[in-house]
Amino acid sequence: MVELFPEGFEEVERLGGVELAAYTDAAGEERMWAFFGNGRAADVEGGWEDRWRAFHRPVRVGRLWVGPPWEEPDDDACVVVIDPGRAFGTGSHQTTQLCLATLQELEPQALLDVGCGSGVLSVAAALLGFAPVVAVDVEAPSIEATRANAAVNGVAIDVRLVSPDEILPSADVVVANISLESVERLARRIECTTLVTSGYVVSSTPRLPAFEHVSQRTLDGWSCDLFRAT
Ligand SMILES: C[S@@+](CC[C@H](N)C(=O)[O-])C[C@H]1O[C@@H](n2cnc3c(N)ncnc32)[C@H](O)[C@@H]1O
Repeated sequence: MVELFPEGFEEVERLGGVELAAYTDAAGEERMWAFFGNGRAADVEGGWEDRWRAFHRPVRVGRLWVGPPWEEPDDDACVVVIDPGRAFGTGSHQTTQLCLATLQELEPQALLDVGCGSGVLSVAAALLGFAPVVAVDVEAPSIEATRANAAVNGVAIDVRLVSPDEILPSADVVVANISLESVERLARRIECTTLVTSGYVVSSTPRLPAFEHVSQRTLDGWSCDLFRAT
């Protein structure tokens, strides 16, 4: 479900199990049938695309406060204002928080954010002093959201729409909060000295031949790994 619906899905407790629900369009429904082969579809009331906003709560990760424009930020924080639009990344997902924590431990240098979603990691990195910051994604709504969030936060980010397998611009630090499979494919598309990866659960550390594993941090069963190029 994380791979099919990275923008989010719902877990609903039912008698005898948990139901996973994705709010999607016809193309998303097709992906669901193709992957799972069974399930249940139902029409929902209009406006579901925006109803999640009521649940968009701020998070604090170290020095960073990440929240929507309608919340009051902490006085003592480095403030990252994020309106994700239709893209993934309010900041509250465990994998995003893990990446935000890891970035704060690194020396600020040139950074590439692969799978920028709302731009939350790129904006946070730019505010932490990383420069230049390049953000790429395969989805147009992510490009739109990242450009808008960069402008709202007053930071310069070079935002680019890319295809899933193209060679990406080199940087000192690459951060990629995508799926395990995409992380493993990514190693062949980038040149960097430090790589921060997330987007998968603790039991699945990526195998990256040209990188040495340095450390791992975890939160609620999700994982984030730090690698250095060998
Ligand atoms: C889990 S979201 C992460 C968003 C944000 N970086 C965060 O940490 O909250 C993953 C994003 O990666 C993008 N993506 C997936 N595969 C990709 C690939 N091969 N190259 C670039 N972007 C990719 C998706 O479109 C999605 O916006």
